[in-house]
Amino acid sequence: MIGSHLVEELLERGYRVTGIDDLSYGKLDNIHTALQHPGFQFYKVNILDFDTLKILSKDISTIIHLAAVKKIAEKDISLPTLLVNTKGTENVFEAAKMWGAKVVFASTSDVYGMSPDLPLNEEGDLLIGPSMIKRWSYAVSKLYGEQLAFGYYNDYKVPVVVIRYFGGFSPRSSFAWSGGHVPIFLRAILNDEEVVVHGDGSQTRSMGFVTDLVNGTVLALENEKAVGELINIGNDEELSVLDTAKLIHRIANTGKELKIKFVPMAEVFGKYKDIQRRIPDLKKAKSILGYQPKVKLEEAIRQTLAEIKQKKA
Ligand SMILES: NC(=O)c1ccc[n+]([C@@H]2O[C@H](COP(=O)([O-])OP(=O)(O)OC[C@H]3O[C@@H](n4cnc5c(N)ncnc54)[C@H](O)[C@@H]3O)[C@@H](O)[C@H]2O)c1
Repeated sequence: MIGSHLVEELLERGYRVTGIDDLSYGKLDNIHTALQHPGFQFYKVNILDFDTLKILSKDISTIIHLAAVKKIAEKDISLPTLLVNTKGTENVFEAAKMWGAKVVFASTSDVYGMSPDLPLNEEGDLLIGPSMIKRWSYAVSKLYGEQLAFGYYNDYKVPVVVIRYFGGFSPRSSFAWSGGHVPIFLRAILNDEEVVVHGDGSQTRSMGFVTDLVNGTVLALENEKAVGELINIGNDEELSVLDTAKLIHRIANTGKELKIKFVPMAEVFGKYKDIQRRIPDLKKAKSILGYQPKVKLEEAIRQTLAEIKQKKA
């Protein structure tokens, strides 16, 4: 999702871009515009295939490493998350080291875990849950990726920037669970289906529109001061999950009643404790990159809704 928008922005700015995705979760349809552009090449490749990755990385100045297996539910298998996000990430850094490329690595706010130190700051301690709960594998795998990034930076002088994205969405988000609650709620409300809320919905998130995430990524890519840094990127507008459902319902204006189904946390996640509040501290992003999110949640929902409706029409 983020990669498809990022490619368009980079091409617009005159970069030549090579895209790699094994299409395990990504959709070619998301890059159909980019595919027409002479500055873009796409390869369906698994980042676990080091030999191919190595060849494709030759002469590349910067690798923006977004490929990952994202959040998993208790019912999903857990090993692909661990394997792709650790071994795959190691392959990316190894290729960068080989050809002298810079790496912008996409980490996640999930690594803050249950940290109560709000807003979540890059210098803060992290509070990860027990290993028996597989939902933590995503956070742990990304944390390992961060350590790898700084290992390659310190030991091999690979220029790296680590970005911790907070939740983001776009009309191209997956409408399955890994896309986050906003796209799922949007779809349910448009289809007049029940909106499934985990727990009582009082947990909060700070959701950003993809243009803000892309803008932060480009700033991190282009600003030399970002090298060797770990930077939060996202939106700091906090809203509870329940209020987000109500907001989407109001904006969608379907004329239908909002139907909410509350599902106990334990039923979805087993013993996993959901993160209650999540707000980024964006001071570092502002001071190093001059980053400031521009799109308010309400506007982001409006834009997403408008595009989805247009696609359906
Ligand atoms: N969207 C968010 O809210 C968010 C928040 C925090 C962090 N991130 C991180 O940002 C990055 C991009 O996220 P996104 O929302 O665009 O997710 P996404 O799932 O749309 O993109 C990840 C892509 O990686 C690809 N992929 C998975 N395994 C692969 C493999 N072995 N080889 C090659 N490609 C593979 C998938 O097909 C998918 O297209 C990810 O690293 C994610 O962890 C995203």
